[in-house]
Amino acid sequence: MQKYILIIGACGQIGTELTMALREKHGNDNVIASDIREGNDSLMESGPFEILDATDYDALEEVIAYYEINEVYLMAAMLSATAEKFPMRAWNLNMNSLFNVLNLGKEKKIDKIFWPSSIAVFGPNTPKENTAQNTVMEPSTVYGISKQSGERWCEYYFNKFDVDVRSIRYPGLISWKTMPGGGTTDYAVEIYHKALSEGAYTCFLKKDTALPMMFMDDAIRATMQLMEADDDSIKVRSSYNLSGMSFTPEEMAKSVQEKLPSFKMSYEPDFRQAIADSWPSSIDDTNAREDWDWKTEFDLKRTTYEMLRNLK
Ligand code: SER
Repeated sequence: MQKYILIIGACGQIGTELTMALREKHGNDNVIASDIREGNDSLMESGPFEILDATDYDALEEVIAYYEINEVYLMAAMLSATAEKFPMRAWNLNMNSLFNVLNLGKEKKIDKIFWPSSIAVFGPNTPKENTAQNTVMEPSTVYGISKQSGERWCEYYFNKFDVDVRSIRYPGLISWKTMPGGGTTDYAVEIYHKALSEGAYTCFLKKDTALPMMFMDDAIRATMQLMEADDDSIKVRSSYNLSGMSFTPEEMAKSVQEKLPSFKMSYEPDFRQAIADSWPSSIDDTNAREDWDWKTEFDLKRTTYEMLRNLK
């Protein structure tokens, strides 16, 4: 059967690269990008695009019928830092968009769903190092609460209604094609832009705040690998822990200085420090490695090399 794919939130940090990767694999015309605003030129020019509000069930149903979509990637969400400022808007967007897609799965209007979760599902009572797949969670942020609830609903729809929904708890994602927006891990992208433009960066987290991170190429590869894995191999229907690397802002600054020796980092922690403090510093992804052969490729050194080379 021909696969027709819809990406919701295609113009965001992950959506942009995921759309291009899926178009390359499945053919430009078979991968429909959608968002509430237009994206960059290569995304807009390489295949179909629809303006679509993920919380509008009728509009979503219409696009799915028109393009005969069978696979949906729901990448629209309000991230952690912005969600603290607009709790109700974040809850509405993050939850209603998920229910829309899950209900389309329940009604058998689509066959397969990808929905991203996050390291934000963990909270201050979670063991911080090498955080296990199943452990204390108790998220303390609006974003984390929405992601944890989403995970519970995904598993519920799989068990009760046989909806094939798959998910990854992404770490902070580092990319050069599209900027992140409103996240607590955004410093790890901003640093490279500022290092090149100004030779200096003021970090909004303390220098010793270790967080789990991943280079975007790894995240896209993981997403596609999970979606292509046999049904039987997917043992986790809430969301998979995924580990790339783990480092502090200070370690990241040193990594930039290896390439740009005059780079200067300073620190002015703001409200995002409390969010970061509530998250794990490193993640155990044994389940992903065992169930669908996940293996990370990019460490900090290689990430810095790729980021500076491409942003120059
Ligand atoms: N990168 C996200 C954030 O910082 C976490 O999923 O909000």
